[in-house]
Amino acid sequence: MTVKTFDGPAQEIETDALVFVGFEGRPPAIDEERIAEVCASGEFSGKSLEVTIFHKPAGFKARRLVLAGAGKADKFNSAEMRQTTAAALRTLKAKGVRSMAVALDREYRGDEFASAAVEGALLGDFEPDQYKTDPKEKEKRADEIVICGGSQGAVTRGRVLGESQNFARSLANDPPNVLTPMALAGRARQLASEQGLDCEVLDQDRMRQLGMGALLGVAQGSAEPPALIIIRYKPAEGSISRDHLGLVGKGVTFDTGGISIKPAEGMEKMKYDMAGGAAVLGAMRAIAQLKPAITVTALIPAVENMPSSRAQRPGDIVTALSGKTIEVLNTDAEGRLILADALTYAGRIGCTHLIDAATLTGSVVVALGAVNIGAFANNPPFLQKVLSAAKAEGEKMWPMPMDEEYRDQLKTPFADLANIGGRPGGSITAAWFLKEFTGDLPWVHLDIAGTAWLDEAKAWMAKGPTGVGVRTFAHVAMNW
Ligand code: BES
Ligand code: ZN
Ligand code: ZN
Repeated sequence: MTVKTFDGPAQEIETDALVFVGFEGRPPAIDEERIAEVCASGEFSGKSLEVTIFHKPAGFKARRLVLAGAGKADKFNSAEMRQTTAAALRTLKAKGVRSMAVALDREYRGDEFASAAVEGALLGDFEPDQYKTDPKEKEKRADEIVICGGSQGAVTRGRVLGESQNFARSLANDPPNVLTPMALAGRARQLASEQGLDCEVLDQDRMRQLGMGALLGVAQGSAEPPALIIIRYKPAEGSISRDHLGLVGKGVTFDTGGISIKPAEGMEKMKYDMAGGAAVLGAMRAIAQLKPAITVTALIPAVENMPSSRAQRPGDIVTALSGKTIEVLNTDAEGRLILADALTYAGRIGCTHLIDAATLTGSVVVALGAVNIGAFANNPPFLQKVLSAAKAEGEKMWPMPMDEEYRDQLKTPFADLANIGGRPGGSITAAWFLKEFTGDLPWVHLDIAGTAWLDEAKAWMAKGPTGVGVRTFAHVAMNW
């Protein structure tokens, strides 16, 4: 989809559909008789996600005028803007509309609104139908989005973020027979070469030399070899600080649970168990283009978790890269095992701050549902930085407690720690497990198990992968 800005008056835009945002009790002031009438009669209420379409508006070059409801004016922010343009685009493209323009009002012309308007359009346009072959079965797409009244910089930023988030969504939607760990590494290499980034992939032999026993223990049950994907971004002008941000993403391309096998029902969804890794790759794509002034390294441990005669067993004790021994009590708690070695390695290669994203626990879904990402940290100021980035980007996130008492649940008589801590506080004990491998580095863990996949389509987003995390990661780097 092409993304453009338009500087002249909205009446002059040639487009299939020109969108005005309207609020409850405050419709947009548009000089067109029928529209004024519909607003006066209350037929357009301005409620959130309401979309009303008019054909051949008098005095406009646009073929349609669209009123998009955005709820209460005093609650309107960039997150609402994103959902509003996304919902408008989804309604319009279903009707065959190919180009959409958004008229930004004087009150919400700030850069965050212009960026969000573009992001919304791009995110609304995405459909998870890459693998459908019948063109008639495929959802329609739009070709062009025009922003009237936004700065070029903000519109470009919105385009980069929206496209990068869709890139992550498309990866998370790839089926597990196609997107194996090595295939994911191939996609990372391709991304890096397209975006001018450095990419290195550690293979099984290298990981064995290094002693990544926790990661390799998970990988050993699969015929698909594992990979530790590393992508580096360095600011061209040199970094403004000595800080070095490490973004770590869980890359389990399919999680059967291993010998502690999962129930068959719903297991197909476990292709998105690499959504954290996809979010990190999407963020690196955005970072390569938006060029923040800080060094950023992405690390994605990629494995497939399978049961087989070679698979690790409950009761196995593995030695992690850090030297700690882990009793594997449940092979389905594999994400923390591969992340343990990736986090340790991130520290060894010079990262000073770590953020990880992982579809880590069912427990976070119980706690926060599909609404909030669970955020866990060992450093309150750094957590605050990530929370405010998430807020600015409209990615809902909630801080979770990390009291020392939870650590006790990981105790075992047979090794330094166990890989599970029982059902109570399951997402917190999982975070505690990770914390054991972060050394003294400031670290934030994002459990995205509930938020990385949408079970039912929303007005603003198709069913399937959401690409959550991409914008927050990019924002943290941009605002360092
Ligand atoms: N990938 C799952 C977590 C998950 C659950 C992601 C639901 C998305 C939706 C993870 O590897 C897992 O299986 N976790 C177990 C841990 C348990 C064995 C301690 C869980 O949450 O049930
Ligand atoms: Zn699992
Ligand atoms: Zn998993």
